[in-house]
Amino acid sequence: MDSASPSATQLKKSDDPVAARQSLTVTDNRTGKSYELPITNGAIRASDLRQIKLDPADFGMMSYDPSFNNTASCISRVTYIDGDAGILRYRGYPIEELAEKSTYLETAYLLLHGELPTATQLKDWTNHISHHTFIHESIKKFLDGFHYDAHPMGMMISAVAALSTFYHDAKDIFSAESRQLQTYRMIGKMPTIAAFSYRHSLGMPFVYPDSELGYPGNLLNMLFGTTGVRYRPNPTLEHALDVLFILHADHEQNCSANTIRGVGSSHVDPYSATAAAIAALYGPLHGGANEEALHMLHEIGSVQKVPDFIRRVKAGETKLMGFGHRVYKNYDPRARIIKRVAYEVFDLMGKNPLLEIALECERIALEDDYFVKRKLYPNVDFYTGLIYQSMGFPMSMFPVLFAIPRTSGWLAQWQEMLLDPEQKIARPRQIYLGYDTRHYQTIDQRKDAPGA
Ligand code: ACO
Repeated sequence: MDSASPSATQLKKSDDPVAARQSLTVTDNRTGKSYELPITNGAIRASDLRQIKLDPADFGMMSYDPSFNNTASCISRVTYIDGDAGILRYRGYPIEELAEKSTYLETAYLLLHGELPTATQLKDWTNHISHHTFIHESIKKFLDGFHYDAHPMGMMISAVAALSTFYHDAKDIFSAESRQLQTYRMIGKMPTIAAFSYRHSLGMPFVYPDSELGYPGNLLNMLFGTTGVRYRPNPTLEHALDVLFILHADHEQNCSANTIRGVGSSHVDPYSATAAAIAALYGPLHGGANEEALHMLHEIGSVQKVPDFIRRVKAGETKLMGFGHRVYKNYDPRARIIKRVAYEVFDLMGKNPLLEIALECERIALEDDYFVKRKLYPNVDFYTGLIYQSMGFPMSMFPVLFAIPRTSGWLAQWQEMLLDPEQKIARPRQIYLGYDTRHYQTIDQRKDAPGA
Protein backbone atom coordinates (compact mmCIF):
# COMPACT_ATOMS: atom_id res chain seq x y z
CA MET A 1 0.00 0.00 0.00
CA ASP A 2 1.27 3.46 -0.95
CA SER A 3 2.32 5.27 2.19
CA ALA A 4 1.59 8.70 0.72
CA SER A 5 -1.73 10.51 0.49
CA PRO A 6 -3.57 9.81 -2.77
CA SER A 7 -2.31 12.18 -5.43
CA ALA A 8 -4.50 14.63 -7.35
CA THR A 9 -4.25 12.42 -10.46
CA GLN A 10 -5.29 9.35 -8.50
CA LEU A 11 -8.28 11.25 -7.18
CA LYS A 12 -9.28 12.45 -10.64
CA LYS A 13 -9.16 8.92 -11.98
CA SER A 14 -11.39 7.60 -9.20
CA ASP A 15 -13.86 10.48 -9.71
CA ASP A 16 -14.24 9.73 -13.41
CA PRO A 17 -17.88 8.63 -13.95
CA VAL A 18 -16.90 6.40 -16.88
CA ALA A 19 -14.32 4.56 -14.80
CA ALA A 20 -15.27 1.34 -13.02
CA ARG A 21 -17.95 1.52 -10.29
CA GLN A 22 -16.69 3.60 -7.33
CA SER A 23 -17.20 0.94 -4.70
CA LEU A 24 -15.53 -1.94 -2.93
CA THR A 25 -17.25 -5.31 -2.61
CA VAL A 26 -16.35 -7.24 0.51
CA THR A 27 -17.41 -10.80 1.24
CA ASP A 28 -17.55 -11.91 4.85
CA ASN A 29 -16.44 -15.53 4.68
CA ARG A 30 -17.87 -16.19 8.15
CA THR A 31 -21.41 -15.60 6.86
CA GLY A 32 -21.02 -15.70 3.07
CA LYS A 33 -22.67 -12.24 2.84
CA SER A 34 -21.33 -9.57 0.48
CA TYR A 35 -21.36 -5.82 1.07
CA GLU A 36 -20.78 -2.95 -1.32
CA LEU A 37 -18.92 -0.04 0.26
CA PRO A 38 -18.74 3.31 -1.59
CA ILE A 39 -15.28 4.67 -2.40
CA THR A 40 -14.85 8.44 -2.13
CA ASN A 41 -11.52 10.16 -2.76
CA GLY A 42 -9.82 6.78 -2.87
CA ALA A 43 -11.05 5.73 0.58
CA ILE A 44 -13.88 3.77 2.17
CA ARG A 45 -15.48 5.07 5.36
CA ALA A 46 -14.45 2.95 8.34
CA SER A 47 -17.99 3.32 9.74
CA ASP A 48 -19.36 1.60 6.60
CA LEU A 49 -17.68 -1.57 7.89
CA ARG A 50 -20.01 -1.58 10.89
CA GLN A 51 -22.82 -3.12 8.84
CA ILE A 52 -20.69 -6.29 8.55
CA LYS A 53 -22.02 -8.38 11.44
CA LEU A 54 -22.25 -12.01 12.47
CA ASP A 55 -25.72 -11.40 13.93
CA PRO A 56 -27.80 -8.32 14.93
CA ALA A 57 -26.26 -8.27 18.43
CA ASP A 58 -22.72 -8.09 16.98
CA PHE A 59 -21.08 -4.62 17.33
CA GLY A 60 -19.94 -4.80 13.71
CA MET A 61 -16.58 -4.88 11.94
CA MET A 62 -13.89 -2.35 12.82
CA SER A 63 -10.53 -1.69 11.19
CA TYR A 64 -7.44 -2.12 13.38
CA ASP A 65 -4.74 0.44 12.63
CA PRO A 66 -2.28 1.08 15.47
CA SER A 67 -0.42 4.38 14.92
CA PHE A 68 -2.72 5.30 12.00
CA ASN A 69 -0.51 3.65 9.37
CA ASN A 70 -3.28 3.62 6.80
CA THR A 71 -6.09 5.71 8.23
CA ALA A 72 -7.07 9.16 6.97
CA SER A 73 -8.36 10.99 10.04
CA CYS A 74 -9.50 14.11 8.21
CA ILE A 75 -9.98 15.85 4.91
CA SER A 76 -7.39 18.61 4.64
CA ARG A 77 -6.55 21.33 2.16
CA VAL A 78 -3.46 22.66 3.94
CA THR A 79 -0.40 20.57 3.09
CA TYR A 80 0.20 17.89 0.48
CA ILE A 81 2.95 15.27 0.68
CA ASP A 82 3.78 12.56 -1.80
CA GLY A 83 6.27 10.55 0.19
CA ASP A 84 7.33 8.29 -2.66
CA ALA A 85 8.07 11.16 -5.00
CA GLY A 86 9.57 13.42 -2.28
CA ILE A 87 7.00 16.19 -2.83
CA LEU A 88 5.86 18.74 -0.23
CA ARG A 89 3.46 21.59 -0.97
CA TYR A 90 1.71 24.15 1.26
CA ARG A 91 -1.70 25.08 -0.18
CA GLY A 92 -0.45 23.83 -3.55
CA TYR A 93 2.83 25.80 -3.59
CA PRO A 94 6.00 23.63 -3.86
CA ILE A 95 8.21 23.94 -0.78
CA GLU A 96 11.21 24.68 -3.01
CA GLU A 97 9.50 27.82 -4.41
CA LEU A 98 8.42 29.02 -0.99
CA ALA A 99 11.91 28.44 0.47
CA GLU A 100 13.43 30.46 -2.35
CA LYS A 101 10.92 33.28 -2.73
CA SER A 102 8.74 33.61 0.36
CA THR A 103 9.33 34.61 3.98
CA TYR A 104 8.20 32.74 7.08
CA LEU A 105 5.49 35.26 7.98
CA GLU A 106 4.11 35.23 4.44
CA THR A 107 4.12 31.41 4.46
CA ALA A 108 2.36 31.38 7.84
CA TYR A 109 -0.34 33.64 6.35
CA LEU A 110 -0.65 31.25 3.40
CA LEU A 111 -1.08 28.23 5.67
CA LEU A 112 -3.70 29.93 7.80
CA HIS A 113 -5.65 31.81 5.13
CA GLY A 114 -5.22 29.49 2.13
CA GLU A 115 -3.85 32.22 -0.18
CA LEU A 116 -0.70 34.28 -0.39
CA PRO A 117 -1.33 37.76 1.04
CA THR A 118 -1.47 40.96 -1.00
CA ALA A 119 1.02 43.68 -0.03
CA THR A 120 -1.60 45.34 2.22
CA GLN A 121 -2.60 42.05 3.84
CA LEU A 122 1.03 41.14 4.51
CA LYS A 123 1.74 44.55 6.06
CA ASP A 124 -1.30 44.25 8.27
CA TRP A 125 -0.49 40.65 9.27
CA THR A 126 3.15 41.54 10.07
CA ASN A 127 2.11 44.59 12.11
CA HIS A 128 -0.39 42.60 14.13
CA ILE A 129 2.15 39.88 14.89
CA SER A 130 4.91 42.27 15.92
CA HIS A 131 2.37 44.10 18.10
CA HIS A 132 1.78 40.86 20.01
CA THR A 133 5.39 39.81 20.67
CA PHE A 134 5.46 41.04 24.28
CA ILE A 135 4.53 38.66 27.06
CA HIS A 136 2.87 39.55 30.33
CA GLU A 137 5.35 40.34 33.11
CA SER A 138 3.79 37.53 35.16
CA ILE A 139 4.85 35.01 32.51
CA LYS A 140 8.39 36.30 33.00
CA LYS A 141 8.10 35.61 36.73
CA PHE A 142 6.69 32.21 35.95
CA LEU A 143 9.70 31.40 33.70
CA ASP A 144 12.02 32.67 36.43
CA GLY A 145 10.67 29.95 38.70
CA PHE A 146 12.23 27.18 36.61
CA HIS A 147 15.47 25.56 37.67
CA TYR A 148 18.52 26.93 35.81
CA ASP A 149 19.00 23.67 33.86
CA ALA A 150 15.33 23.21 32.87
CA HIS A 151 14.98 22.05 29.27
CA PRO A 152 13.60 24.98 27.21
CA MET A 153 10.98 22.69 25.61
CA GLY A 154 9.58 21.90 29.06
CA MET A 155 9.51 25.63 29.81
CA MET A 156 7.83 26.35 26.50
CA ILE A 157 5.10 23.73 27.01
CA SER A 158 4.33 25.21 30.43
CA ALA A 159 4.46 28.86 29.33
CA VAL A 160 2.20 28.31 26.32
CA ALA A 161 -0.30 26.37 28.46
CA ALA A 162 -0.14 29.22 30.99
CA LEU A 163 -1.10 31.76 28.30
CA SER A 164 -4.62 30.30 28.44
CA THR A 165 -4.90 31.65 31.99
CA PHE A 166 -4.15 35.18 30.72
CA TYR A 167 -6.46 35.26 27.70
CA HIS A 168 -9.90 34.13 28.78
CA ASP A 169 -11.33 35.22 25.41
CA ALA A 170 -9.42 32.30 23.85
CA LYS A 171 -12.20 29.97 24.96
CA ASP A 172 -14.40 31.57 22.30
CA ILE A 173 -13.08 29.20 19.66
CA PHE A 174 -16.01 29.55 17.25
CA SER A 175 -15.51 33.30 16.92
CA ALA A 176 -13.36 34.01 13.83
CA GLU A 177 -12.25 37.27 15.45
CA SER A 178 -11.08 35.53 18.61
CA ARG A 179 -9.25 32.83 16.65
CA GLN A 180 -7.48 35.54 14.64
CA LEU A 181 -6.42 37.37 17.80
CA GLN A 182 -5.07 34.20 19.46
CA THR A 183 -3.20 33.43 16.23
CA TYR A 184 -1.47 36.85 16.28
CA ARG A 185 -0.67 36.36 19.94
CA MET A 186 0.67 32.85 19.59
CA ILE A 187 2.84 33.45 16.49
CA GLY A 188 4.04 36.72 18.03
CA LYS A 189 4.86 35.36 21.48
CA MET A 190 6.51 32.04 20.62
CA PRO A 191 9.94 33.58 19.82
CA THR A 192 9.77 35.65 23.01
CA ILE A 193 8.97 32.63 25.19
CA ALA A 194 11.72 30.63 23.44
CA ALA A 195 14.31 33.38 23.89
CA PHE A 196 13.38 34.08 27.53
CA SER A 197 13.65 30.35 28.30
CA TYR A 198 17.13 30.31 26.81
CA ARG A 199 18.28 33.46 28.61
CA HIS A 200 16.92 32.06 31.87
CA SER A 201 19.09 28.94 31.47
CA LEU A 202 22.14 31.21 31.13
CA GLY A 203 21.10 33.46 34.00
CA MET A 204 21.15 36.40 31.57
CA PRO A 205 18.71 39.32 31.58
CA PHE A 206 15.85 39.08 29.12
CA VAL A 207 16.05 41.13 25.94
CA TYR A 208 12.65 42.53 24.99
CA PRO A 209 11.18 42.22 21.48
CA ASP A 210 12.26 44.81 18.92
CA SER A 211 9.50 45.50 16.41
CA GLU A 212 11.94 47.14 14.01
CA LEU A 213 13.54 43.78 13.35
CA GLY A 214 12.03 41.07 11.16
CA TYR A 215 10.62 37.86 12.68
CA PRO A 216 13.90 35.84 12.67
CA GLY A 217 16.03 38.94 13.39
CA ASN A 218 13.95 39.75 16.45
CA LEU A 219 14.43 36.19 17.72
CA LEU A 220 18.21 36.40 17.20
CA ASN A 221 18.26 39.73 19.05
CA MET A 222 16.31 38.36 22.02
CA LEU A 223 18.59 35.29 22.15
CA PHE A 224 22.00 36.80 21.59
CA GLY A 225 21.64 40.55 22.10
CA THR A 226 23.40 42.24 24.99
CA THR A 227 22.09 45.22 26.85
CA GLY A 228 23.64 48.52 25.95
CA VAL A 229 24.90 47.49 22.50
CA ARG A 230 22.50 47.53 19.54
CA TYR A 231 22.41 43.99 18.12
CA ARG A 232 22.38 43.78 14.34
CA PRO A 233 21.44 40.29 13.17
CA ASN A 234 23.66 39.01 10.39
CA PRO A 235 21.53 38.96 7.18
CA THR A 236 22.87 35.51 6.16
CA LEU A 237 21.91 34.00 9.52
CA GLU A 238 18.59 35.80 9.50
CA HIS A 239 17.83 34.48 6.01
CA ALA A 240 18.95 30.93 6.94
CA LEU A 241 16.65 30.94 9.98
CA ASP A 242 13.76 32.27 7.90
CA VAL A 243 14.22 29.47 5.33
CA LEU A 244 14.40 26.86 8.11
CA PHE A 245 11.19 28.31 9.55
CA ILE A 246 9.43 28.01 6.17
CA LEU A 247 10.54 24.36 5.89
CA HIS A 248 9.25 23.57 9.37
CA ALA A 249 5.94 25.43 9.15
CA ASP A 250 3.67 22.44 8.50
CA HIS A 251 3.82 18.78 7.60
CA GLU A 252 0.24 17.51 7.34
CA GLN A 253 -0.94 14.81 9.79
CA ASN A 254 2.25 14.16 11.78
CA CYS A 255 2.27 13.29 15.48
CA SER A 256 1.97 16.88 16.77
CA ALA A 257 -0.62 17.97 14.14
CA ASN A 258 -2.66 14.92 15.07
CA THR A 259 -2.24 15.93 18.71
CA ILE A 260 -3.52 19.49 18.25
CA ARG A 261 -6.46 18.15 16.26
CA GLY A 262 -7.20 15.46 18.87
CA VAL A 263 -6.84 17.73 21.91
CA GLY A 264 -8.57 20.62 20.12
CA SER A 265 -11.49 18.36 19.25
CA SER A 266 -12.53 18.58 22.92
CA HIS A 267 -13.00 22.34 22.22
CA VAL A 268 -10.31 23.38 24.69
CA ASP A 269 -8.70 26.80 24.07
CA PRO A 270 -5.89 26.98 21.44
CA TYR A 271 -3.11 27.65 24.01
CA SER A 272 -3.81 24.40 25.86
CA ALA A 273 -4.08 22.52 22.55
CA THR A 274 -0.81 24.05 21.28
CA ALA A 275 0.96 23.16 24.53
CA ALA A 276 -0.05 19.53 23.89
CA ALA A 277 1.29 19.75 20.33
CA ILE A 278 4.62 21.11 21.61
CA ALA A 279 4.79 18.17 24.03
CA ALA A 280 4.25 15.77 21.12
CA LEU A 281 6.97 17.51 19.13
CA TYR A 282 9.43 17.22 22.04
CA GLY A 283 9.75 13.43 21.65
CA PRO A 284 12.97 12.08 20.09
CA LEU A 285 11.04 10.31 17.33
CA HIS A 286 9.53 13.62 16.22
CA GLY A 287 10.93 17.16 16.65
CA GLY A 288 13.38 16.06 19.34
CA ALA A 289 15.27 14.11 16.65
CA ASN A 290 17.37 17.14 15.63
CA GLU A 291 18.85 17.31 19.13
CA GLU A 292 19.32 13.52 19.21
CA ALA A 293 20.98 13.53 15.77
CA LEU A 294 23.61 15.95 17.01
CA HIS A 295 24.20 13.94 20.20
CA MET A 296 24.67 10.93 17.94
CA LEU A 297 27.24 12.69 15.72
CA HIS A 298 29.15 13.73 18.85
CA GLU A 299 29.01 10.15 20.11
CA ILE A 300 30.35 8.78 16.81
CA GLY A 301 33.19 11.28 17.15
CA SER A 302 35.11 10.73 13.90
CA VAL A 303 34.62 9.70 10.28
CA GLN A 304 36.66 6.52 10.95
CA LYS A 305 34.11 5.39 13.52
CA VAL A 306 31.09 5.74 11.18
CA PRO A 307 31.24 2.16 9.78
CA ASP A 308 31.20 0.69 13.29
CA PHE A 309 28.24 2.90 14.24
CA ILE A 310 26.35 1.82 11.10
CA ARG A 311 27.09 -1.80 12.03
CA ARG A 312 25.47 -1.18 15.44
CA VAL A 313 22.44 0.43 13.78
CA LYS A 314 22.03 -2.60 11.51
CA ALA A 315 22.34 -4.92 14.49
CA GLY A 316 19.38 -3.09 16.04
CA GLU A 317 21.48 -1.70 18.93
CA THR A 318 20.69 1.94 18.09
CA LYS A 319 19.02 4.12 15.47
CA LEU A 320 20.48 6.46 12.93
CA MET A 321 18.73 9.58 14.25
CA GLY A 322 17.56 12.00 11.58
CA PHE A 323 16.97 9.11 9.18
CA GLY A 324 13.71 7.49 8.15
CA HIS A 325 10.19 8.84 7.96
CA ARG A 326 6.68 7.44 8.17
CA VAL A 327 5.68 9.14 4.92
CA TYR A 328 8.85 9.92 2.94
CA LYS A 329 10.19 6.82 1.28
CA ASN A 330 12.46 9.02 -0.79
CA TYR A 331 14.82 11.91 0.05
CA ASP A 332 12.94 14.38 2.27
CA PRO A 333 12.70 17.49 0.02
CA ARG A 334 13.29 19.67 3.07
CA ALA A 335 16.61 17.91 3.79
CA ARG A 336 17.82 18.80 0.27
CA ILE A 337 17.11 22.53 0.82
CA ILE A 338 18.59 22.41 4.33
CA LYS A 339 21.85 20.98 3.00
CA ARG A 340 22.15 24.05 0.75
CA VAL A 341 21.37 26.44 3.62
CA ALA A 342 23.97 24.62 5.74
CA TYR A 343 26.74 25.55 3.31
CA GLU A 344 25.64 29.21 3.32
CA VAL A 345 25.93 29.25 7.12
CA PHE A 346 29.24 27.34 7.12
CA ASP A 347 30.72 29.81 4.59
CA LEU A 348 30.08 32.53 7.16
CA MET A 349 30.67 30.75 10.45
CA GLY A 350 33.20 28.09 9.41
CA LYS A 351 32.45 24.47 8.68
CA ASN A 352 30.90 22.49 11.49
CA PRO A 353 33.47 19.75 12.31
CA LEU A 354 30.61 17.23 12.61
CA LEU A 355 29.62 17.77 8.97
CA GLU A 356 32.15 15.21 7.66
CA ILE A 357 30.72 12.59 10.04
CA ALA A 358 27.16 13.37 8.90
CA LEU A 359 28.12 13.19 5.22
CA GLU A 360 29.87 9.85 5.77
CA CYS A 361 26.80 8.45 7.59
CA GLU A 362 24.64 9.56 4.68
CA ARG A 363 27.05 8.19 2.04
CA ILE A 364 27.23 4.76 3.67
CA ALA A 365 23.53 4.62 4.45
CA LEU A 366 22.44 5.54 0.93
CA GLU A 367 24.50 2.65 -0.46
CA ASP A 368 23.82 0.07 2.24
CA ASP A 369 21.22 -2.62 1.63
CA TYR A 370 19.72 -2.26 5.14
CA PHE A 371 18.77 1.39 4.51
CA VAL A 372 18.01 1.00 0.78
CA LYS A 373 15.59 -1.91 1.38
CA ARG A 374 13.77 0.03 4.12
CA LYS A 375 13.83 3.27 2.09
CA LEU A 376 15.55 5.18 4.89
CA TYR A 377 16.76 8.62 3.81
CA PRO A 378 17.88 11.70 5.77
CA ASN A 379 14.90 13.60 7.09
CA VAL A 380 14.58 17.29 8.01
CA ASP A 381 16.31 16.72 11.33
CA PHE A 382 19.56 15.26 10.04
CA TYR A 383 21.23 18.53 9.00
CA THR A 384 19.29 21.18 10.95
CA GLY A 385 21.22 20.47 14.15
CA LEU A 386 24.52 21.15 12.38
CA ILE A 387 23.26 24.52 11.15
CA TYR A 388 21.80 25.51 14.51
CA GLN A 389 25.03 24.55 16.25
CA SER A 390 27.09 26.64 13.83
CA MET A 391 24.74 29.56 14.43
CA GLY A 392 25.54 29.33 18.14
CA PHE A 393 22.42 27.61 19.47
CA PRO A 394 22.84 25.05 22.25
CA MET A 395 21.41 21.59 21.47
CA SER A 396 18.50 21.94 23.88
CA MET A 397 17.20 24.86 21.77
CA PHE A 398 16.93 22.78 18.57
CA PRO A 399 13.42 21.40 19.18
CA VAL A 400 12.34 24.88 20.32
CA LEU A 401 13.49 26.25 16.96
CA PHE A 402 11.18 23.66 15.39
CA ALA A 403 8.20 24.55 17.59
CA ILE A 404 8.31 28.30 16.80
CA PRO A 405 7.52 28.01 13.07
CA ARG A 406 5.34 24.89 13.43
CA THR A 407 2.91 27.02 15.44
CA SER A 408 1.41 28.43 12.21
CA GLY A 409 0.88 24.91 10.84
CA TRP A 410 -0.64 23.69 14.10
CA LEU A 411 -3.06 26.61 14.15
CA ALA A 412 -4.02 26.01 10.50
CA GLN A 413 -4.70 22.33 11.29
CA TRP A 414 -6.61 23.25 14.46
CA GLN A 415 -8.80 25.78 12.68
CA GLU A 416 -9.51 23.41 9.80
CA MET A 417 -10.56 20.71 12.29
CA LEU A 418 -12.85 23.12 14.18
CA LEU A 419 -14.60 24.33 11.05
CA ASP A 420 -15.03 20.85 9.53
CA PRO A 421 -18.65 19.83 10.16
CA GLU A 422 -17.65 16.16 9.95
CA GLN A 423 -15.22 16.38 12.89
CA LYS A 424 -16.36 15.45 16.38
CA ILE A 425 -14.44 14.80 19.57
CA ALA A 426 -11.60 12.37 18.73
CA ARG A 427 -12.41 9.03 20.23
CA PRO A 428 -10.83 5.90 18.74
CA ARG A 429 -12.16 2.40 19.40
CA GLN A 430 -10.11 -0.45 20.86
CA ILE A 431 -9.96 -4.19 20.58
CA TYR A 432 -10.24 -5.43 24.14
CA LEU A 433 -8.19 -8.56 24.87
CA GLY A 434 -8.07 -8.25 28.65
CA TYR A 435 -9.81 -10.37 31.29
CA ASP A 436 -13.49 -11.20 31.10
CA THR A 437 -15.41 -10.53 34.35
CA ARG A 438 -13.65 -11.74 37.50
CA HIS A 439 -14.54 -11.11 41.09
CA TYR A 440 -12.82 -9.04 43.74
CA GLN A 441 -10.65 -10.91 46.26
CA THR A 442 -9.84 -9.48 49.66
CA ILE A 443 -6.14 -8.86 50.31
CA ASP A 444 -5.75 -12.01 52.46
CA GLN A 445 -7.15 -14.14 49.61
CA ARG A 446 -4.42 -12.94 47.20
CA LYS A 447 -1.23 -15.00 46.96
CA ASP A 448 2.25 -13.77 45.92
CA ALA A 449 3.40 -15.42 42.67
CA PRO A 450 6.10 -18.07 43.37
CA GLY A 451 9.54 -16.43 43.44
CA ALA A 452 8.10 -12.89 43.74
N1 ACO B 1 17.65 3.90 11.98
C1 ACO B 1 17.67 2.56 11.80
N2 ACO B 1 16.63 1.81 11.42
C2 ACO B 1 15.48 2.47 11.20
C3 ACO B 1 15.36 3.87 11.36
C4 ACO B 1 16.51 4.58 11.76
N3 ACO B 1 16.49 5.90 11.93
N4 ACO B 1 14.10 4.26 11.09
C5 ACO B 1 13.43 3.15 10.77
N5 ACO B 1 14.26 2.07 10.84
C6 ACO B 1 13.92 0.66 10.50
C7 ACO B 1 13.05 0.07 11.59
O1 ACO B 1 13.82 -0.55 12.59
C8 ACO B 1 12.22 -0.92 10.79
O2 ACO B 1 13.04 -2.04 10.51
P1 ACO B 1 12.39 -3.53 10.48
O3 ACO B 1 11.42 -3.50 9.32
O4 ACO B 1 13.55 -4.43 10.30
O5 ACO B 1 11.68 -3.69 11.80
C9 ACO B 1 11.98 -0.20 9.45
O6 ACO B 1 13.12 0.70 9.32
C10 ACO B 1 10.69 0.60 9.40
O7 ACO B 1 10.70 1.53 10.48
P2 ACO B 1 9.47 1.88 11.39
O8 ACO B 1 9.98 2.24 12.75
O9 ACO B 1 8.43 0.82 11.28
O10 ACO B 1 8.95 3.18 10.65
P3 ACO B 1 7.95 4.25 11.24
O11 ACO B 1 7.27 4.85 10.07
O12 ACO B 1 7.10 3.68 12.32
O13 ACO B 1 8.92 5.32 11.95
C11 ACO B 1 10.33 7.13 12.35
C12 ACO B 1 9.30 6.52 11.40
C13 ACO B 1 9.77 7.23 13.77
C14 ACO B 1 10.64 8.56 11.88
C15 ACO B 1 11.61 6.27 12.34
O14 ACO B 1 12.14 6.23 11.03
C16 ACO B 1 12.66 6.76 13.31
O15 ACO B 1 12.60 6.41 14.49
N6 ACO B 1 13.67 7.61 12.87
C17 ACO B 1 14.63 8.18 13.76
C18 ACO B 1 14.03 9.38 14.49
C19 ACO B 1 13.84 10.55 13.58
O16 ACO B 1 14.73 10.94 12.82
N7 ACO B 1 12.67 11.18 13.71
C20 ACO B 1 12.33 12.41 12.97
C21 ACO B 1 11.27 12.17 11.96
S1 ACO B 1 10.97 13.64 11.04
C22 ACO B 1 10.02 14.57 12.11
O17 ACO B 1 9.28 14.10 12.91
C23 ACO B 1 10.16 15.96 12.01
